Amino acid sequence: MVEFVLPKSSRPVEGKVWQKPEGASRLKELRIYRFDPDEASNPRIDTYFVDLDDCGPMVLDAIIWIKNRVDPTLTFRRSCREGICGSCAMNIDGLNTLACTKGMDEIEGAIKLYPLPHLPVVKDLVPDLTDFYAQHAAIEPWLQTVTPEPEKEWLQAPDDRRKLDGLYECILCACCSTSCPSYWWNSERFLGPAALLQAYRWVVDSRDEATSERVGYVDDTFRLYRCHTILNCSNACPKSLLPGTAIAELKNLAIAQTTGE
Ligand code: SF4
Ligand code: SF4
Ligand code: FES
Repeated sequence: MVEFVLPKSSRPVEGKVWQKPEGASRLKELRIYRFDPDEASNPRIDTYFVDLDDCGPMVLDAIIWIKNRVDPTLTFRRSCREGICGSCAMNIDGLNTLACTKGMDEIEGAIKLYPLPHLPVVKDLVPDLTDFYAQHAAIEPWLQTVTPEPEKEWLQAPDDRRKLDGLYECILCACCSTSCPSYWWNSERFLGPAALLQAYRWVVDSRDEATSERVGYVDDTFRLYRCHTILNCSNACPKSLLPGTAIAELKNLAIAQTTGE
């Protein structure tokens, strides 16, 4: 069997163990991936201890507490703190999810934090999402029409509006794409589950008039058909969406468009 190993310079080494907060009776240990591109050293795993009686309940609360009280150099993204901006996505105890909606009490023992996998790391828990956003832009995520603009608004029947449920809620957190083995190995050419779910969202929008162009764009050996229905993506989605199902529907539409059925 082929064995893949990280190059020596990428292997995380044991890092600093930071001091426990004085007087705390309920402690939670966090082991956090640290990487600074300005230092010519390997990534390291630092160990921190959070005072649970002085900190909110979520993993994001813990890393904000660490940044404010222990180590201001710890770097991560966050904004809304309520699961709607997608910016705090990271790998928590081996699963991609949102730090702001993951309770510390859901994890036994030390909490292990890494950036989203298989992306270049900008610093610590911040991955480089340049390609991910470019893939989203490539599916042209906006309403496209050829009929003249209505005076007021584009109308949509309630039944057609309901077709967008389970799609419009995507917060572009990238948890799905970065949990997909096909995306790991072909991220330059496979659009990945997040962009494909968004593509499907516009394909099924009754107001959009670029449906066949949209289906034609994704109908490609790499862009769409690198998906092998492993369904890691649907398991990973913190919003309980089903990108794997959206991809299967896109494949059906692509086949129907090609065969004219
Ligand atoms: S179904 Fe599997 S292969 Fe397809 S996008 Fe999801 S995780 Fe990747
Ligand atoms: S489908 Fe789910 S996991 Fe994927 S980007 Fe959207 S919200 Fe995140
Ligand atoms: S901070 Fe916005 S989703 Fe977590």
